Amino acid sequence: MKNQPLKILVCAAIAILVSANQELTLAQISQSGGSPGRERLLMDFGWRFAFGHATDPARDFDPDPAGSTFSYFAKAGTAAGAATADFDDRGWRTLDLPHDWAVEVPFSNRGSGSHGYKAIGKNFPETSVGWYRKTFSIPAADLGRHITIEFDGVFRDSQVWVNGFYLGRESSGYSGFGYDLTDYLNYGGNNTIAVRVDASLEEGWFYEGAGIYRHVWLGKTARLHVAKWGTFVSTELKDSSADVTARVMVNNDSAKDVSCEIEQSILNADGQPVAGGEIKTLALKAGASSESSVVLNVPSPKLWSCETPVRYKLVTSVRQGGSEVDRYETPFGIRAIRWDANEGFFLNGRRVELKGVCDHQDHAGVGVAVPDELNAFRVEQLKKMGCNAIRTSHNPPTPELLDACDRLGILVMDENREYGINPQELGQLERLILRDRNHPCVVIWSIGNEEWSIEGNEKGTRITQTMQTFAHVLDPTRLCTVAISGGWGNGSSISIDVMGFNYFTHGDGAETGNDRYHARFPDKPSVATEDASTFSTRGIYVQDRDHQHLSAYDTNKPDWGITAEESWTHYAARPYVAGLFQWTGFDYRGEETPFYWPAISSQFGILDLCGFPKDNFYYYQAWWSDHPVLHLLPHWNWPGREGQDIDVWVHSNCQEVELFLNGQSQGRKTMTKNSHLEWKVKYASGILLARGYTGGKEILTDKVE
Ligand code: GAL
Repeated sequence: MKNQPLKILVCAAIAILVSANQELTLAQISQSGGSPGRERLLMDFGWRFAFGHATDPARDFDPDPAGSTFSYFAKAGTAAGAATADFDDRGWRTLDLPHDWAVEVPFSNRGSGSHGYKAIGKNFPETSVGWYRKTFSIPAADLGRHITIEFDGVFRDSQVWVNGFYLGRESSGYSGFGYDLTDYLNYGGNNTIAVRVDASLEEGWFYEGAGIYRHVWLGKTARLHVAKWGTFVSTELKDSSADVTARVMVNNDSAKDVSCEIEQSILNADGQPVAGGEIKTLALKAGASSESSVVLNVPSPKLWSCETPVRYKLVTSVRQGGSEVDRYETPFGIRAIRWDANEGFFLNGRRVELKGVCDHQDHAGVGVAVPDELNAFRVEQLKKMGCNAIRTSHNPPTPELLDACDRLGILVMDENREYGINPQELGQLERLILRDRNHPCVVIWSIGNEEWSIEGNEKGTRITQTMQTFAHVLDPTRLCTVAISGGWGNGSSISIDVMGFNYFTHGDGAETGNDRYHARFPDKPSVATEDASTFSTRGIYVQDRDHQHLSAYDTNKPDWGITAEESWTHYAARPYVAGLFQWTGFDYRGEETPFYWPAISSQFGILDLCGFPKDNFYYYQAWWSDHPVLHLLPHWNWPGREGQDIDVWVHSNCQEVELFLNGQSQGRKTMTKNSHLEWKVKYASGILLARGYTGGKEILTDKVE
């Protein structure tokens, strides 16, 4: 523990170095992984940035605020102001992505509490619109290729232009999106991308940041190429082999009818081919897309699991006249999942209790502009706790989070943002599924969270059914859930595949709510999508409302929540529920419950905003991980309280623990499964020592002094 701060600093420094080196490294990786036909180049570096204005066109770089006839949308390529190619942006700030400007602006009590009281939003038109511009060159030799720009996530409501040509608008702050640049580029010259981002409106009730906070990519392919998110791999386990169904969508973006050969093969983790050989022929009309699929048998597969997160790679090769025009690689895992109404969740035929957390995506210092290595660090911290699952509440995550979960063996409940069936809402769900359906870590889609106006009524039943049917068409291999906070037995809870219990103390108003639901819907699997909401401040062992500190004993909870121990004990005793996702893994900005300004962040985390464990981390580690744990709290510095009772707790999975103060035994106690131990100890300065015993032998000690 003592070295933890140093370790975090080192991690942060490495993360910065890694991100600084990324352009080259990722570009090289992308190029070396594909054929000459395909390149994927990181576009994170060398952007210009300036604030525009949400309500004053003149301060939003509009050269003609009165509005002339031929600007912006009147004619192709007639953008105005900062959207034009030749706008002079030399006075703008230079920065690299990912970037979150909300984290940079001051705090203000006029800001939105749920978003961490930043000077951003409807009250702050001067800091709620940001413009980004980047100039890049395209070689003359690229003429004839298909060239796209891909944004992994922009918060929010972005409009994009290239060389003054309008490309489109994306309102979602979380969905990935992209545009075709091919016809608008200057080949053998410079090109300018301009992005206007308007973060005046919020999507969620938690800190969401502002700006281009995820990676941006330039994609180059042949006119004949695998479509964006164009492969879909699914696996079926046989006796001693696996059938891998590989589907691919190919686009012919040329003006000619073509025919091509498709070969799909599988490489193991060492890069050795293990299946393939079949060649399919595909005929595509000019401008058309067509799908091909093949079933490949992998003998003696190594299965993807939390303990052995082994990945294979599907290589899709598109050839014309004997030469390869595109080569597209899709990492995947071979694994089987099943949800059972009585026994919970199964991975590769074995029941796995979901010991999960919900998380938002921001981190200390960087806001939502989280470097890849920091995302991996967060997953690693959770894994150390014994956590095996993450719910990406309440939005599609950054792709790199899923990569880390694939690599580290963490199961993911992948969550959608907007609930409904209009094209915008279904479009978000579609992009989530198409983007993420090859990740072995993703075991269920969450189509939404606590939709209060409909979750308990018949509109909820219908909307949920429509969204779910839509999801099944895109991905027949996974079920859907929705996090439901009330009206259990009605509304969404009737039509959803897997019932999502949000807070057993709240959803049905009673301890027995899950059981009643299960009795009424005996064929429906279920999972606790959210629970606990226990809050605590790391290293604090008194209630100190003046400083907005909450003690780190497992005792504080809001009206709708419950302590970590009460929550886990409740669900551990109900194997028909597949497991739970505790609110939350990490503290996050916003939702400063139970305080108000000047508090600016939540304290629900099992780890704090920087990723340091609070004491409850060790409660979960004791009962979720498979290694011995002994953790003593509080600290032992209470000058002035000599002779007074101090509550001493131990989180441990040892069978017995004996506590000593300055060598004097304070008693040996037997641990109850899923619980903790407590002593009242009269304070005297010195050393408080706990000895943990299993099978009568001392196996661990912990002390505070
Ligand atoms: C839940 C909600 C979460 C968070 C949490 C705080 O009801 O789904 O987003 O607000 O409460 O306890």
